[in-house]
Amino acid sequence: MASVPSLASTVEQRLAAALSAALPEAGAADPLLRRSDRADFQANGILALAKKAKANPRELAAKVVEGIGTGEVLKEIEVSGPGFLNITVSDRAITETLAARYADGDRLGVGFAEQPGTTVIDYAQPNVAKEMHVGHLRSAVIGDAMTRILEFSGEQIVRRHHIGDWGTQFGMLIQYLIEHPHELDHKSGEEVSGEEAMSNLNRLYKASRALFDSDEEFKARSRDRVVALQSGDEQTRALWQRFVDESKIYFYSVFDKLDMEIRDPDVIGESGYNDMLDETCRLLEESGVAVRSEGALCVFFDDVKGPDGKPTPLIVKKSNGGYGYAATDLSAIRDRVRNLKASTLLYVVDARQSLHFRMVFETARRAGWLNDEVKAVQLAFGTVLGKDGKPFKTREGETVRLVDLLDEAVERATSVVREKAEKVGLSEQEIVENGRYVGIGAVKYADLSTSAARDYKFDLDQMVSLNGDTSVYLQYAYARIQSILRKAGEARPVAHPELELAPAERALGLHLDGFGELLADVAAEYAPHKLAAYLYQLASHLTTFYDQCQVLSTDNAPEVVENRLFLVDLTARTLHQGMALLGIRTPGRL
Ligand code: ARG
Repeated sequence: MASVPSLASTVEQRLAAALSAALPEAGAADPLLRRSDRADFQANGILALAKKAKANPRELAAKVVEGIGTGEVLKEIEVSGPGFLNITVSDRAITETLAARYADGDRLGVGFAEQPGTTVIDYAQPNVAKEMHVGHLRSAVIGDAMTRILEFSGEQIVRRHHIGDWGTQFGMLIQYLIEHPHELDHKSGEEVSGEEAMSNLNRLYKASRALFDSDEEFKARSRDRVVALQSGDEQTRALWQRFVDESKIYFYSVFDKLDMEIRDPDVIGESGYNDMLDETCRLLEESGVAVRSEGALCVFFDDVKGPDGKPTPLIVKKSNGGYGYAATDLSAIRDRVRNLKASTLLYVVDARQSLHFRMVFETARRAGWLNDEVKAVQLAFGTVLGKDGKPFKTREGETVRLVDLLDEAVERATSVVREKAEKVGLSEQEIVENGRYVGIGAVKYADLSTSAARDYKFDLDQMVSLNGDTSVYLQYAYARIQSILRKAGEARPVAHPELELAPAERALGLHLDGFGELLADVAAEYAPHKLAAYLYQLASHLTTFYDQCQVLSTDNAPEVVENRLFLVDLTARTLHQGMALLGIRTPGRL
C-alpha cells in the first residue's frame, strides 16, 4: 500500500504554494509549520520572509490566507499576532487520514525513505572469554533498535558483531589450555549453559593470568603462542576456536535473555580481518598516509595531542610487528565498503572510544576508503551510572555482571505483574512470560529513552514503576486497549469521518498522524530516544482521551462507539509497532 501523507505535510505543502504565489521572490519558502496549542498548527515562517522581502508581515499573512482558502482539509485559518498563521484542519480530514493508516496493516501508512542505502551496523560486540557488562548492554540495545528502525525505513542492513576475539591475551589462554588440556572439556552429550560456559572461561582466565604474571617462562611461551596464532598454526587456531565457541554459548544465552536475535553469520570478530592486516598497512604506508615513527607505523593528526603537547598518533602497526585494534578497524572499513557495498558505516560504541573512531575515520578518508559516497558515523553512547551517580560498580568495586542485572529486573517485574494478575486473570505461565517482557522491556526502555550520548542512572525501582516515562506504563496502555476491544463484544472498530471529534480525540488523532514523520527523523538522526518520547506522549494523549471520552458507554450512539474503538485500536497498533521497533514486547493481557 502507498504511504499516507500526514496532515501536517499536506498543510505545509499548501501553505508553501500559497506563500510562493503571494511572494514569488521568496522561491520555495518554508512556512515553518509546528503543532500548536491554540489551533492544530501554527506557521511561524512568514515573519522572517516578509522581513527579508521588506513587506508587511500581517499583510503578507492575509494574502496567504486569501490564496489558500478553506475546504475539505482546512477548516479555519487566521492571522494572529505580528504575522503568524493559526490553522485548524477539519475533523473529517483527521478521521479519513487515520482510516487510511488503519487500512495499511503493520506499516500504518508510513512511507519508505526516498533514497535508501546500505548501512553496515557494528553493534553488540562483547569480548571473548570476558564477562558482559552494562556497556555491552547499551551497544546491543541501541544497535538492535536502530537496526529495526532503519530496516523499517527501507534501508538495506548488514549486521556486524565485531567481537573482541583477537589479541595478545589469547597467547596466554591457549598456552594454558595446552598445558592443562582438559580444562574446557564438556561431559559428552551434556549441554553447557551460558552461565557454566562463562564460569569455565573465568576460571581459565584467572588461572592463566596468575601464571602469566608469576612465571617468566610461561610468559615467554605465551608470547610465542601469539605468534603461532597470528601466523595461522593449525593446532593453535583450533584451540583458539574452542575459546570462541565457549564464549558464544555464553553470549547467545545473554542475547536470548535480552530477547534479541543475533545471527551467527553476522558475528565477525576482530580475527575476521586478520588476512587483510598486512595489506592495509602496506596501502597506508605506500600512500604516505602512515609513516614510520620510533619503529611503529603511525598516522598523525594536527589536532590530536597528548598532555605533553606532542602529537598522539594512531598506531596501525606496533614496533614489535604486532597489529592492534586500529589495524583491524581499518581493515573492517575496507571490507565493509568494498565487499559489503556500504553507503553508511554505523558504529554503536561507547563514547570513550570516540577519539579512536575519529582517528580511524580520518585515516580511512585520507586513504580514500571513505569519501562523499560513503560516510562513517559513531553512534556514541554514554556511561551507565549507579544510583550514586558514579560509574556502575558492585559494592566490592567490580563491574556489575549484566546477567545479574537482567535477572533482577525480571524478578522485580514479575512481582509487579503478579500483583495485578488475579484481577486480569493471568495464568502462572502468563505471569512468568509477562514478567520477562516487562523486566527486559524496562531495561531496554530506560536505555533508549534518554539520548544515547548522555549517561544515565541504572535504577531498577524507577524502571519498573507503573507511573512516569517507563516501558511498563506504555505496556499497560496497550493492554488496556486490548481489554476494551475484548469487552466491546459485537461492536467493531469502524471509522466514521462524518462525526465531530472531541478535543481529546483530535489531539490523539493528530499525534497518531505524525508517526511516519517522527520515524523518518529518528532514522535520519539515529535518535531512538525520540521514538520513546513520541510513544510516551501517545500514551499521555490516550490517558486524557479516557478522562474526557467514554468508549463503551451505553450513552454513546453506535457510530461513536465504533469510531472510538477505531481510534484506540489505531493507537494500540501504533504503540505496538513503535515498541517493536525499540525491541520491546507488548503483551495483550497485563
Ligand atoms: N569489543 C569492543 C569493546 O568491548 C567494542 C568493539 C567496537 N567495534 C569496533 N569496530 N571497534 O569495547
